[in-house]
Amino acid sequence: MTTRPRKPAPGTPAPGKLPLPEVVEMKRRGDRIVMITAYDAPSARIADAAGVDLILVGDSAAMVVLGHDSTVPATMDEMLMLTRAVTRGAQRPLVIADLPFGSYQVSTEQAIETAIRFIKEAQADAVKLESAGPMLTRVRALVDAGIPVMGHIGLTPQTATMLGGFKAQGRTAEKAAQLYADALALQAAGCFAVVLEAVPAPVAARITEALDIPTIGIGAGASCDGQVLVWHDLLGLYEGRAPRFVKQYAELAPTIGAAVEQYATEVRSGAFPEERHTYAMSEEELTLFEQQLAERPIAQSAP
Ligand code: KIV
Repeated sequence: MTTRPRKPAPGTPAPGKLPLPEVVEMKRRGDRIVMITAYDAPSARIADAAGVDLILVGDSAAMVVLGHDSTVPATMDEMLMLTRAVTRGAQRPLVIADLPFGSYQVSTEQAIETAIRFIKEAQADAVKLESAGPMLTRVRALVDAGIPVMGHIGLTPQTATMLGGFKAQGRTAEKAAQLYADALALQAAGCFAVVLEAVPAPVAARITEALDIPTIGIGAGASCDGQVLVWHDLLGLYEGRAPRFVKQYAELAPTIGAAVEQYATEVRSGAFPEERHTYAMSEEELTLFEQQLAERPIAQSAP
């Protein structure tokens, strides 16, 4: 019998994978948690090598990768494909799959079926869903089914229309209290962490103090237990208007643009490819080939 290295079964942590309970331990120790989005295997490898803790395959892919104006059009097939690519690239970071709009709102059964597909077919370690309220029963059911869930409140892009657009949330005492209550409810429902998006920093700080599970902020200030940024925003790859909470750590779009322009110029001028980019053939074989061409026309290959 041959012994082949076995891939861990879906649902079983791979060797070297950050254990999920460690995420809550990090909060307890006061270690900040680093999360970033990624949508393909090379980016996941880069994030892993850079020491990122959590990779979110965000439905922001609809905007930054697929060219839509909002996250709403992201489909299950698209998100599954992107998540598979990321889990192939990431070893240590936990990979969290964002459940796309319409894939969990219909019923608890739908939410479980959707999340199971991300865990089984795409090897995600956990899932994220937006909002609290009626979604709390979904969270509880997923956790009962053994699927780790990250919550997401504040600005929830899938329901931005209901919130009056892409704008900060929880800016009145009443709305802040609602967010606080929602965060506690998500913790009680079994979430292992909660994203706070576009929430005033003092509100996020109070929520972070109140919770045992970590808060991951995006536009929610420095008191959160961790931070998340979208890959394309952080690297200066997205053309749309960046929200105020984005810090751009590199400006890669012009660098990439210049490289592609140079490539186009060199193709047109004949400067590329050079000798070193080509494959050689022995003189003998080349002479034979040329003799064949001279002696008889070579017929087109059969289809
Ligand atoms: O889809 C996404 O990228 C997100 C993050 C902004 C938290 O939900």
